[in-house]
Amino acid sequence: MKEIPIEYIKIPEDIDGIRKLHEEVVGRYMEKYESGTSKPILVKEIDRHNYILIDGKHRLEAKKRLKKYRRIDCEITDLDDRELYAKAVECNMEHGVRLSENEEIDVLKNLIEEGRTQEQMAKIFHISRSAIAMRIKRDPSLAKSQSDKIKLPTINELLLGKMGVEVAKLYDISKGRVSQIWGNFVNEITSDFNAGTTKEEIITNQSNKGINLTEEKINELIKEDLNKVILGDCLTEVPNLKDDSIDCVIIDPPYGIEYQSNFKNEKYDRIEKDNSEALDLLDKSITAFKPKLKKDSHIYIFTSWKVFGKVKPIIEKHFTVKNCLIWNKTNWSMGDLKGNYAEKYEMIIFAIQGNRKLLGEKRPVNVLDCSHTDNSKHPTEKPVELIKELIENSTKENEIILDCFAGSGSTLLASKELKRKWIGIEKDEEFYNICKRRLIENE
Ligand SMILES: C[S@@+](CC[C@H](N)C(=O)[O-])C[C@H]1O[C@@H](n2cnc3c(N)ncnc32)[C@H](O)[C@@H]1O
Repeated sequence: MKEIPIEYIKIPEDIDGIRKLHEEVVGRYMEKYESGTSKPILVKEIDRHNYILIDGKHRLEAKKRLKKYRRIDCEITDLDDRELYAKAVECNMEHGVRLSENEEIDVLKNLIEEGRTQEQMAKIFHISRSAIAMRIKRDPSLAKSQSDKIKLPTINELLLGKMGVEVAKLYDISKGRVSQIWGNFVNEITSDFNAGTTKEEIITNQSNKGINLTEEKINELIKEDLNKVILGDCLTEVPNLKDDSIDCVIIDPPYGIEYQSNFKNEKYDRIEKDNSEALDLLDKSITAFKPKLKKDSHIYIFTSWKVFGKVKPIIEKHFTVKNCLIWNKTNWSMGDLKGNYAEKYEMIIFAIQGNRKLLGEKRPVNVLDCSHTDNSKHPTEKPVELIKELIENSTKENEIILDCFAGSGSTLLASKELKRKWIGIEKDEEFYNICKRRLIENE
């Protein structure tokens, strides 16, 4: 630390532009200097009479305003120019300064280079770790910097039973990433097995890749293939599931309404757009899961009156549509718009394959009363209690339920609570992580 004359310290334009002075912060530092001292500011030395300010604009301003001081305590850093800029931006963020897209990338790149963990980056940005992971994934240059740094656990390590939090911590990756690596491996083994590869052949194939498997372990993996969420596209993941194995499908597919995640505050905005792509996805996903259904099975598909006319014929191409259930939202509120009737219900198309009967002592009715959720986990989150009703009407304990548009995992949680077996697929990593957490914490 060194005392440097205040007039030797220059504020670079970038910092000046990015960060406005907050009068209350300057005031606080003035009081601190009057009653003692404050932590040193951070500067870079150009020569004996020239220093560039990196962090401490408010402290410097406080000292200047107090007039009686000629010098200020400084810590001198030797970061290079590119790093300096990112460091300055990073320091400024602690004061809640909003960054541009490019600044964000600069800061993240710098932090990755410094070897900071995603947990630490999340603290700096005041957002969740999964939001940081998403942000890095979205930018190819950040993803590359990160993957150059990251080492991943090997399958042999995971096979030794090192799982979850422990490995995630050891490798500084998310728990979701560990279960994704593990899930992909379990998937590979079980889909080989389902496709008729013998256990001996699987052991040999894996051993050629350096992976040590035993017959016992394969048996465990095959069992583990249920009660899992897969991160991925259902059109590529569903074909890996076992044929003729699912008792009931409950899906809430996207209908051409997209949600944009805002990196800063993690809120979601709806953008209505053309739904032909979404209808095509529905058709393709049904084509993919149809062979996975048992001969006698039930299918529930959430929809809305806006697309009902287009969705029903798609379902009828594959199954018999038996009914359209109405989910009557009991805690609906009027709102203050007078231009249209308020939306109080959603539709659930009930279809069957083969001859599966509804269960329960009383015949269920096609209007289901249930309050809606606060959508805190997903913008179109469905109530677990509502889905439980469908599950109880259609399946017994230990039967298998598939939701290949899992979102925040409402169907999976309902299945878990009712002791059914379940498989979920979700392609958005942020929702996948929410879903995993929800299933661990039963929330
Ligand atoms: C309407 S939301 C489901 C919400 C869910 N019912 C809940 O309660 O949270 C549809 C979900 O499907 C996911 N999705 C869209 N296309 C997909 C695909 N091809 N494969 C897997 N998931 C997909 C979206 O990311 C979204 O989370």
